[in-house]
This record gives sequence, C-alpha cells and structure tokens, in this order.
Amino acid sequence: MKIVHVVGARPNFMKIAPVMEAFERTGEVDQVLVHTGQHYAEELSKYFFDDLGLPRPDVGLGVGSGSHGIQTGRVMIALEPVIDRERPDWVFTVGDVNSTVAAALVAAKLGIRVAHVEAGLRSGDWTMPEEINRVVTDRLSDALFTTEAAANENLAAEGVREDRVHFVGNVMIDTLERHRERAAGMRVAEGMGLEPGSYLMVTLHRPSNVDDPGRLAALLMALGEVVAGTGHQVLLPLHPRTAMRVKELKLQEFLQPLTTLPPLRYLDFLGLMQDAAAVVTDSGGIQEETTVLGIPCITVRPNTERPVTLTHGTNRLYDGDPHGLLDVVREALLSERSGVRPPLWDGHAAERIAMITLGLGSSGDSALP
Ligand code: UD1
Repeated sequence: MKIVHVVGARPNFMKIAPVMEAFERTGEVDQVLVHTGQHYAEELSKYFFDDLGLPRPDVGLGVGSGSHGIQTGRVMIALEPVIDRERPDWVFTVGDVNSTVAAALVAAKLGIRVAHVEAGLRSGDWTMPEEINRVVTDRLSDALFTTEAAANENLAAEGVREDRVHFVGNVMIDTLERHRERAAGMRVAEGMGLEPGSYLMVTLHRPSNVDDPGRLAALLMALGEVVAGTGHQVLLPLHPRTAMRVKELKLQEFLQPLTTLPPLRYLDFLGLMQDAAAVVTDSGGIQEETTVLGIPCITVRPNTERPVTLTHGTNRLYDGDPHGLLDVVREALLSERSGVRPPLWDGHAAERIAMITLGLGSSGDSALP
C-alpha cells in the first residue's frame, strides 16, 4: 500500500507523527510525506519535525502565506503533479487548515481515496475558516477517522455513510502521551525561574480574537488585569499573526505586564503547560491537551467543535466582555484539577487508524459519493 500524507501547519505535525509511525510499524506501507510550507517559520515548522521525530518531508511545496484563496490555490497547484506522479492508494489529510482542504480537493479530483484524520468536528460557526475546511474535507473523504462521539453524530446528520466513519480516538493525545514525560523531565518552567503553578499559559491567534483592534486590545488589557488580580504571571507565546497585529495596531504597551515569548517548540510548550495553574486559549488542540492533563482551560470563544472537552474535560468557554476574564480565571483556579479522559483518548488512536486502513485495502479508486 502506498500513502501520501499532506501536512502544512503546526497542528498538523503533532497529528501526523503517530500515524506515520503506526504505518511504519506494520511494515506494509510505502509512505510519502509532503509539507506544503503553509507554516515556514522554524518555530512553527522545522523544530516540530525535530521534536516529534518526524521524517524529513519527501516533498516540500513551499507555498507560504497569502489570502485563503491564494494559499489554498497554491497548495492545489503544487500538489496536483505530486499526487499524479505518486498515484498513492490513499491521501491522508489531517485537521482543518487550508492545506487540509486543498489536499482533499486535489486527491478527490484525481480519483484517489482521501482519509481525513480528525473528521466530523463542527463548531457550527461559518465565520471560522477552519469550519469550511472541515465540512468540505469530510465531504470528499472515503475514510473519516473521528475523535469523539459528537463527530460521528455530526457526520450522520450530514448524510455521510456510516461505513466510512471510524471512531478511533485522538492522535493528538497519542503524541502527548508519547512525549509528556520527556517534556516534564526538561524542567522548562524551572529553567525560566518559574515556580510550578505560579503562572498561566495563554495563546491567542484566531482571527476573531486578534484581527479586530478593539477586541485584541481589550483581551490584552484583560490579561494584564489577570496578572494584577491573581498574582500569577501570564506567559504568552506570540503566534506570528498575533505579533503582527500587535505591531500594526501599536498595542505594545498592553504587553508590558505579560511575559511574552516567541512561539515555543512542542516539548517546551508541553512542559510549561503541565506546570501551569491554568490555560487561556483560543486554540483547538490545547483544549484537548488540557483535558487529558487535567489542567483548567478557559477557551476564549463562543463555541467549540470539541464538546467532549466540556462534558468530560477541564474546558470552559468564555466569550463575554474581556474584562470579565479575571473572574473566570479566579473561578478556574479554584476548580478541581481533574477531568475524565474521553473514550479512546488512550494513546493508541494511530494504531487503530493503521489497522483500519490496511483492512480497507489498497485497491480501488475513490468510491464517492
Ligand atoms: C493556521 C490555521 C489555523 C491553525 C494555525 C496554527 C488555516 C485557515 N488556519 O492559522 O487553523 O490553528 O495555523 O498555527 O489554515 N506566518 C509566519 N510564519 C509562518 C506562518 C505564518 O510569519 O510560518 C504569518 C503569515 O504571514 C500570516 C500569519 O502568520 O500573516 C497567519 O498565518 P496563516 O498560515 O495564514 O494562518 P494561521 O493564523 O497560522
């Protein structure tokens, strides 16, 4: 069996690593790794390959940044000849970024079967570019690997054939389980002179939070209030999108009370997150990681496509006035540091994906619709 895996942005790398490893262990699969280059900065890309033990990409498309149309289009243009040349049995695409949907479109149009890892998640929020990417990718996929029960329900409601959907658990948690001890052993917080439990980890990069000047300013101000009101430091690794917006909008003064950092490597971030008192984020994956680590998480969004993190995990949503964040953080700091591990988030999702894919076989073109 031959598989082409397509990855492009930071959250993709953590998800594909255990999948490639699981296929490798079967000894039955010829794998080709394509990096679209959607994320090209070393902190968002190269270091992740190193930390996760991912093989060097076989093909780099170097598409870089651009508007959604430009970025998605460039991936399609550059990827088509690669898929056409390789003619794999499957194209594996992960998550919900622009590279994900571009890969699905190219493969489906060449009649090659698409497997989507992390299928079926829905926020119901069509203003999120990721929501559009999820829906389109799932519609084009022959094998849909899901992380939680809600995803299966969403796909059933959209009319996706049941035999295409496979509830396998969460590959992001496979990666977390593989690396958490090593990350803890690095004692990153200690190295920065931080007492465990004395700080909050914060990440913000969603367009809905960082593109509107008033919203971004209010959120940064609110984080300053959290520092003053709780006595906890706020560690804020700045995503390039956020850093750029802060500069453009001249909001640097609001960063003064915060401890800003460059985007962190996977192991550094995981190490710091494990010792954090709580996490404030608008990321998707971090909601899942905090659920398994049992760390209180406040997601600064009106919705989540990962409801199991609310019902089983430590996650809560907050979309009110940013100045109310202090009260929500205080409440989270007092809450129990525990949650229930969602079903099948056991570190073995990738093995299930490999077994199921081998079972589906290598013959046959895409059987859509
Ligand atoms: C993308 C994903 C988002 C994911 C996030 C994780 C889409 C639609 N969005 O958002 O789902 O949560 O990655 O990081 O695919 N930039 C750099 N260096 C880089 C990459 C980007 O400086 O290596 C800059 C770009 O020039 C751009 C900004 O960061 O101005 C945003 O990058 P982009 O890839 O468009 O989207 P993200 O916000 O990173």
